[in-house]
Amino acid sequence: MTDSTAAQAQANLKRVRTRHFQSAKENGIKITGLTSYDQLTAGIFDEAGIDFLLVGDSAANNVYGYDTTLPVSVDELIPLARAVAGAVTRAFVIADMPFGSYETGTDEALHTAFRFMKETGAHAVKLEGGVRSAEQIRRIVSAGIPVMAHIGFTPQSEHGLGGHVIQGRGEQVTQLLADAHAVEDAGAFAVVLEMVPAEAAAKVTQELRIPTIGVGAGPHVDGQLLVWTDWAGFTKGRIPKFVKQYANLRETLTDAVTNYRADVEGGVYPGPEHSYED
Ligand code: KIV
Repeated sequence: MTDSTAAQAQANLKRVRTRHFQSAKENGIKITGLTSYDQLTAGIFDEAGIDFLLVGDSAANNVYGYDTTLPVSVDELIPLARAVAGAVTRAFVIADMPFGSYETGTDEALHTAFRFMKETGAHAVKLEGGVRSAEQIRRIVSAGIPVMAHIGFTPQSEHGLGGHVIQGRGEQVTQLLADAHAVEDAGAFAVVLEMVPAEAAAKVTQELRIPTIGVGAGPHVDGQLLVWTDWAGFTKGRIPKFVKQYANLRETLTDAVTNYRADVEGGVYPGPEHSYED
C-alpha cells in the first residue's frame, strides 16, 4: 500500500480497532487522539475523524473541579465514559482507570476494567505505570480487554514524582525504556508517553513494536493526544508548553454570555422573532 492509500484507508474505517493502531504505525500514519468527557464533544470529534477518545481521569480537573486527578473515582468516571462511548460511531473509546482502582493487585485491576467495559461500552482501558503495572496489564489483556499503557510523567504519581516534572531526561532514559518494554511485553496495544524529551520518545518509538502516543513527547512518536479543554482554549490558567491551542473557547463563551446578560438586562432579548404569536 502507498502512503496515501494507507492514509485514505485509515480515514475510511467504519470503526477504529486495536489492529488499526498497529497498522497505522506500520504504514507511518499518525494516530490522533483527544480527551472527551461528554456526548457533545465526543460526537464532534468522532465526526471530524479523531481516531481515539480518552475519557481521561483529567475529568477530575475538567469536569469535577478537583485540584489533581487523585480524588476522582470509578463511579464518577463511568457515566462520562458511557456518554462518550454512546456518541461515537468510528472512534475508539478508552476509559482511564483512576488512582486507587488497580494498584493493589491484578484482581482489583481486572475488577475495575470489567466495570468500565460492562457499564460504559468503552472499547479499552488505560492505566498508568510501566514495570510496576505490568502484571495488571497482563491480567486485563488476558481477559480480552485491550489496554493502553501510560508512562513518562504519570499524573496519578505527581506527589511521588515531585510535581509536574519531565521524565526520561539523561540517564532516566534507561528506566523509560524498561517501562516501555515492560508494557509492550505485558500486551498493551499502545503506550502514552507523557512529558518526555523528544529524543527519548524517538528512541522508545524506534524500539517498540506497538505505537507510542505522545502527550508532550515531541514529533517522533506514532500519534498525539491532548486534553481537549487545553487544546480548545477552554481551560483557565496555565497551559503546558507542549499544548498548541486550536481555538479560544473561553473567550468565545465569555463574550457570548456577557452579550446575553446585556441583552436580557437591556430588554433586547427576547425580540419578536423569539416570541410566539397568539
Ligand atoms: O487523563 C488524561 O487526560 C490523561 C492524558 C493526559 C494522557 O491521562
